[in-house]
Parts: sequence; C-alpha cells; structure tokens
Amino acid sequence: MPKKLTRFDLEAMKAAGRKVVWVTAYDFPTAQFAAQAGMDLLLVGDSLGMCVYGYSGTLPVTLDQCIWHSEAVRRAAPETFVIGDMPFLSYQVSVPEAVRNAGRFFKEAGVDAVKLEGGQRVCPQIRAIADGGMLAMGHIGLTPQSSGPQGGFKAQGRTAAAALALLEDARAIQAAGAFALLVEAVPPEVCRLIRDELAIPVYSIGAGVEADGQLMICSDLLGIFQAFTPKFVKRYAALGPQMAAAFEAYAEDVRARRFPADEHVYQMVPGEYDKLQALIRAKA
Ligand code: KIV
Repeated sequence: MPKKLTRFDLEAMKAAGRKVVWVTAYDFPTAQFAAQAGMDLLLVGDSLGMCVYGYSGTLPVTLDQCIWHSEAVRRAAPETFVIGDMPFLSYQVSVPEAVRNAGRFFKEAGVDAVKLEGGQRVCPQIRAIADGGMLAMGHIGLTPQSSGPQGGFKAQGRTAAAALALLEDARAIQAAGAFALLVEAVPPEVCRLIRDELAIPVYSIGAGVEADGQLMICSDLLGIFQAFTPKFVKRYAALGPQMAAAFEAYAEDVRARRFPADEHVYQMVPGEYDKLQALIRAKA
C-alpha cells in the first residue's frame, strides 16, 4: 500500500513534472474504488449538492452535509489525501467562523486539507486557517458558489484584464499560505502562466493540460450526471445507462417470477418443515 502523500510530496511532484490525478468522491464505495485505482487526491466537493442531492447548484449545501460525506470518504480511503470543500457561508461571514468550520472538517472527518473558493477576498481566511495549523487550498476561475456574480457557469480569465486579475489572485493566495491552488474553466495559457509563477502546485479542472495535475468530477467521468456536461468533461464510462439497464433487467425478472431463484433463498433445516406442519395440525 503506497503511503499517503503530503504537501511536500505534492511540491516535489510539481518540481519533477509528475502529474497529480484526483477526482471528487462523495460516498464510501466511490472513494474505495477511486483509491484502489490509485488517485493521488480525493475531493469531497460541494458539487455533491448537484451530483448526490439533485440541487440545481451548490448554494444549498450545508457544512454538516460536507462533513458527513467527508467522513465516509475518509473511512473508505484511509491512505489517500482527502480534501474537504468548504460550502457556501461556511467561510464568507468572518475569519473566526472560517477557522472554526475548517477545524470541524479536520476534527470530525479527519480530512487532510480544506478548499475555499475565491481570490484575494478569501486570503484572510486562508491565512487564519493556515495559522491554525491546517492545510488550505485556493480555488479561482469559475467558482460555482459565485456563479451568480460570474453570470452563470462560465469560463473565466478570457480577456487580458481578467487573466491579470486571476494572476494577482493566485499570487495573493500563495502569499496567504495556501499549499496548492485549483484553477477552474480558464484558458490553458492563463493556467500555464499561473503554474509557472507559483511555487505551490497549481491544479486544473477545465484549465488545460499544463497544470501540475487534473481534477474531474467523478459523476461526469463515470457518466452518472445527466443535468449538463461542461466542455471540459471527458466521459470514461456510461454507468448511468448501465444502471438503468440493470434495474430494468431486475424488474423483468421479478415480474416474470425468475427472481428470486432457488440459489437466492434460504433452506429450512432438513425435516423441520414436516415438524412445523405437525405442530400447526396439533394446534388446529
Ligand atoms: O465542488 C467541487 O467538486 C468543486 C469542483 C467543481 C472544483 O469545487
């Protein structure tokens, strides 16, 4: 069993040009299979709101939901670096609240790090969480918790001014003490500039191949999220149609009395059925 990665391993992988691979996971079985497949990191994203609970966005997701799902992922993947995603309103209101809520992820779910969305405006929170002895990761570009102000789930950093603002956000997040940065839905050349500029690892979801590693939403990768498919998704399986076919086959078997068959039922101890009949007769 390979040992769990540390922030120093991640920095060394950046220096050596070795890509870090990660996916989101929200539950025990998915995390177990992802860990068995050798994922370097697992993110318990607040995307669970859309992928697990069927909300139309991430804003309704609560801190408790994120912590419960992080606990399940931690149990499934004890040797994998797990990142808990801080949901909307768990860090925006005040710095002390951000520290306390980040601390709940570590105390209750045993995560290795937390992730916060936003640039310079969340640097005080990142600094305070890091000062509290916890690892914090930044997340810039498309930040789903701010999809309202961003005008929807849209690519970011496509103009020179917007790209420069992202670069400044990235520098500020590193200076605040983040151990890594995630860049979402940004042109590859902008992500490359940020990666070259920062000493900490810079990871991509929809920001091109040159980042220090790639994240994908497990439900997109596996083909079980139907609401929409972002441009940056590559499907590696179509588990949704496979699941529907399995449910249909089961329903057909039940309706045709093919299930359960003899091999799916328990046998009485030999001779006991005759005794039962006798007992019933004696009581009649
Ligand atoms: O919640 C999540 O899965 C995320 C990704 C969209 C980056 O934050």
